[in-house]
Amino acid sequence: MTDPTLGVLLSSQQIQSRIREMGEEISRDYPQGNLHFICILKGACFFLTDLARAMKRDVFVDFMGISTYGKGKTTSGEVKVTKDLDISLQGADVLIIEDIVDSGVTLNYLMHLLEQRRPKSLRIATLLDKPERRQRPVEVTYVGFQIPDKFVVGYGLDFDEKYRNLDDICVLEEAGGDGV
Ligand code: IMP
Ligand code: MG
Repeated sequence: MTDPTLGVLLSSQQIQSRIREMGEEISRDYPQGNLHFICILKGACFFLTDLARAMKRDVFVDFMGISTYGKGKTTSGEVKVTKDLDISLQGADVLIIEDIVDSGVTLNYLMHLLEQRRPKSLRIATLLDKPERRQRPVEVTYVGFQIPDKFVVGYGLDFDEKYRNLDDICVLEEAGGDGV
């Protein structure tokens, strides 16, 4: 890593090995029926593709675009659906796939929205969780890693759309923006 503002928090190897464990656990928890993975764009798409391949059973994959963050590091508190699902959730087991739960605003909103579509079950799998930052209650069933209150980038996570394609998850320090 040449950029001096990035420090590795979770290596690619740690991430991949934890995702394999999560895939096995989720596969065991859903032995049958239609299981839909709903990927929250854009950050969760790296996690989705690795988790789906770690599964020991078929999964449907669909995408939802949600925006809460403007530019920078703080949430506006406003949630907007920018892309809706293609496949009906009625009667299906549904797992929301998220990169990180921070304030909980996004997932709190999304749980209410998707419950109205009558899935058989609705749960959340997130790669990262920052429990210290929670403002809205969210029940998260599968958590890859709990992390401290630091702004992180890489493996799908961005700062102003940058750094998503890093293999590792890194802490972004003194990078300007609106400072959290
Ligand atoms: P929440 O609604 O505050 O829980 O925010 C969830 C969304 O904020 C995530 O899906 C990310 O897109 C973004 N986010 C929260 N924390 C970070 C971070 O540390 N790095 C990059 N994006 C973040
Ligand atoms: Mg996101």
